[in-house]
Amino acid sequence: MRRIGLPQSLWQKIESLLQTLGHSYSAPVRLAKDITRLSDFYITHPKAATPWNERWAQAAYLAYYLPLNYARARAVMLEAERLGFFSGLKSFVDFGSGLGSAQLALAPIAPFVDQGLCVDLASVAMDFHRELYQNLSRQQGLSEQSIHWSPELVASRLAPARSRLAIFSYVHTELEGLPAWAEASEAILLIEPSTRDDGRRLLELRKRLLAEGFTAVGPCTHQKPCPLLESSQRDWCHHRILWETTPDWQRLESVLPIKNRTLTYSYLLLRRNPPASPASESAKTPETAPDLARVVGDPLREKGKSRQLICRGPEREFLSWFPARIKSEPELDRGDLIRFRTPLETKAQELRLKDTMSIEILNHSDSTDIQSLS
Ligand SMILES: C[S@@+](CC[C@H](N)C(=O)[O-])C[C@H]1O[C@@H](n2cnc3c(N)ncnc32)[C@H](O)[C@@H]1O
Repeated sequence: MRRIGLPQSLWQKIESLLQTLGHSYSAPVRLAKDITRLSDFYITHPKAATPWNERWAQAAYLAYYLPLNYARARAVMLEAERLGFFSGLKSFVDFGSGLGSAQLALAPIAPFVDQGLCVDLASVAMDFHRELYQNLSRQQGLSEQSIHWSPELVASRLAPARSRLAIFSYVHTELEGLPAWAEASEAILLIEPSTRDDGRRLLELRKRLLAEGFTAVGPCTHQKPCPLLESSQRDWCHHRILWETTPDWQRLESVLPIKNRTLTYSYLLLRRNPPASPASESAKTPETAPDLARVVGDPLREKGKSRQLICRGPEREFLSWFPARIKSEPELDRGDLIRFRTPLETKAQELRLKDTMSIEILNHSDSTDIQSLS
C-alpha cells in the first residue's frame, strides 16, 4: 500500500503557525481537546461550514485535518499525474481551498500551471494558506505560481475554461452542487470523505457528467455505468493509503480517541477532452486499455476461497482465488490499478485467478512519498 507523509518543512511551518495561536505539537493534550471539539462539530453538523472564526477550530484544522487532507490529496495528485490527467491544463481554481491541502499537494507536481485561484469564504484560512504555500515553494525551490486568493469567485479572474482545472477537496459535501463555471471547465478533480453518502453522491455526479460529455479518467477504468452505484445500495468507491506519521503525531494520537494508521478517501477525475494515452505501459488511460481493472474492495476470506471486488466495466465483479491452489496469493489494496496479462476464466461474477503472475499492479503501491528532498 502506498505510504504518504508530509515534507519536513510543512510540519515545521504548521508548528510555527500553531504557536501563533498559542498551541504546539509539544502540548498534545490541549491540541487534542480542540481537535475533538472540531470533530464533534463535524459529526453533529455534517453540512455546516468549518467555524473558521474560532481560534480553537483554526488550531484543530492546522494540526490535524490539514496534514490528513494533504496526504489524501497528494495520493490523488500522484495518481492523476500517472494517468496523464493534467496534460494540457494551464490554470486551476481550488474552490473551498481552506488551508490549501489540495493546492499544496498539487504545486510540486504541476509546474504547468500559469495561474491559480484559491477561493474560500474564510479569509483567516486563506491567510494561513498563503503562508504555508510561500514557505513550501521557498523550501522546495518551486517556481512561484501566480496565485490569487479570494473570498468569492470573481468571473473576471477566471482563466479560459478550455485549459482550466476545477478542484473541490472536501467541499462538495458542503455544496448543493457544482457551480456552472466548474462544469464549464476542461477538467474537474474532486476529493471527498469516504463515507457512503458522500461517496455515492460522487458516483451520481459521475453519472450525470458522463451523460454531459465528460470522461472519467480516474479512478474509473471505463465509461460505462458504475457497478457500485447501479448494482448495490451499499457500495461506494473509496481508496486507502498508509499514513506516514511523525513522533509528534504519535504523541498527539496517543491522547486522541481517533487513530489513523490508514487514510481513506473517494475521488473523481473528469476531463471534457481526455488526454491521449501516454506512451508508457504504466500510464495507460482507461479507454485505451480494456484489460485494466481498479481494486475497489478489501480481500474477503471465505472458507477455502478468497475474493476481492474489482471494477473493469458495468458488472459488479470479483477477483477470486483458492489460497490452497495458488503458489502465492495476490497482495492487492483498495485503489490499486491492475492489468490482466492473460484473460482469466470467468464464472458468474468471478474472475478466477490461478496464477498471480497473470496480473500486474500498475501503480507503485508500496512506495513511500514524503518528498524527502525537502
Ligand atoms: C472542509 S473544508 C476543506 C478545505 C480544503 N479544501 C481541504 O481539503 O482541507 C471546506 C472549505 O470550504 C469552504 N467553503 C464552503 N462553502 C464555500 C463557498 N460557497 N464558497 C467558498 N468557500 C466555501 C469553507 O470555508 C471551508 O474552508
